[in-house]
Amino acid sequence: MTKPQPLRDTKILLGVTGGIAVYKSAELCRMLQRAGAQVRVVMSEAACRFVTPLTFETLTGHPVGIHMFGDTGGTGGTGGVISHIELAKFADILVVAPATADYMARCAQGRANDLLAAVTLAHEGPIIFAPAMNTGMWRNFATERNVSDLVENHGWHMVPPGEGHLACGDQGPGRLAELGDILDAVCAVRRPKLMGKKVVITAGPTAEDIDPVRSITNRSSGIMGCELARMALYHAALEVTVILGPCPAEPPWGSRVIPIRSAREMQVAVNAEAETADVVIMAAAVSDWRPATISPEKLKRADGTISLPLVPNPDILGELGARMAGRDRPILVGFALETDNLLDSAQDKLKRKQVHIMVGNMARDALESATTEAVILEDNGAVWESGRVTKTELADAIIDRISRRFAQS
Ligand code: CTP
Repeated sequence: MTKPQPLRDTKILLGVTGGIAVYKSAELCRMLQRAGAQVRVVMSEAACRFVTPLTFETLTGHPVGIHMFGDTGGTGGTGGVISHIELAKFADILVVAPATADYMARCAQGRANDLLAAVTLAHEGPIIFAPAMNTGMWRNFATERNVSDLVENHGWHMVPPGEGHLACGDQGPGRLAELGDILDAVCAVRRPKLMGKKVVITAGPTAEDIDPVRSITNRSSGIMGCELARMALYHAALEVTVILGPCPAEPPWGSRVIPIRSAREMQVAVNAEAETADVVIMAAAVSDWRPATISPEKLKRADGTISLPLVPNPDILGELGARMAGRDRPILVGFALETDNLLDSAQDKLKRKQVHIMVGNMARDALESATTEAVILEDNGAVWESGRVTKTELADAIIDRISRRFAQS
């Protein structure tokens, strides 16, 4: 039986920068080839100190690019001079593994001071990078800033380093990601799961004003919704709209943001956007009540207890679910944030709100945290438990469930 080749007809330029993980790049090259890709390789001079270009020339059957100009001499193999423009044009996808701190710093600045940096600057397709370095270098402020710049402003796709024993003897994050994860990231870019889809996501809390200076709100950080937006863009959604309550989380570059404060403002925006959406994900923590009246003046201090009459807010998702009942577009996804009885409550909300997918998580695990533990329930009875994952990983899993539904229809 022939193996599936998810990267058939894909041209990949594998960039290799200098670190001990270079020896793994040779295996990555083979894995990309086995997945059907045509691979060419560019190495930095430092990478050539760890593994000779001959290894990659033998694997790919092509010369390895190293130098910008012909006067630098050979480093084994052909001498390594290939035009950076030719290489950039060749590649559908640029994969850099391992990516060193220095390479990322230069790219964040837009420098082109060696062949790989020049190719990177000239390349117009997706770039996937898998950093690998010593833990201290990885945690350094400058590295963190460069990585987030490349991801958030340059649109690069990162496969983050794993944790464990490093070759230098340290323990911590910094080792090259599993090669299978890098391959998955390449496949995700090649076969994006939400290609051409219009995705609407609510994120963060709502705020219900009491008077001009006070409001009722909640502790939602907005991270989950923003990670979903990032993943939707990663999977090539045509348009990602984030309807965002007041919170510090920043939606990814490339998303369209509609800022709102109250639940009723959110409802107006959701209903308008849902008309043309393929997917609506309600990750926001919506306030269930609002003050019956908003005082136009600041309420004055008074002795004794005061009471504040509250009236219920509309159930935005519940009403949308009822209106869209029986339709398979847009796919509706809700979040059930619970303090007890997670499974039962999430099941109940899946049915009551008439949504396709309900993601349940516990408030103690999810609020103001970068990680969470969730259960994904579908109206077809499917149940998936995440275990402890980052919100990025959970977002990816949710997008995966959504994309399966598109694939089935
Ligand atoms: N939701 C909504 N409108 C509201 C309240 C919640 O659209 N007024 C959405 C949330 O964005 C979430 C889902 O409904 O996707 C479940 O929210 P949750 O607060 O867990 O449920 P509630 O319906 O508010 O029920 P309860 O507070 O009783 O658990």
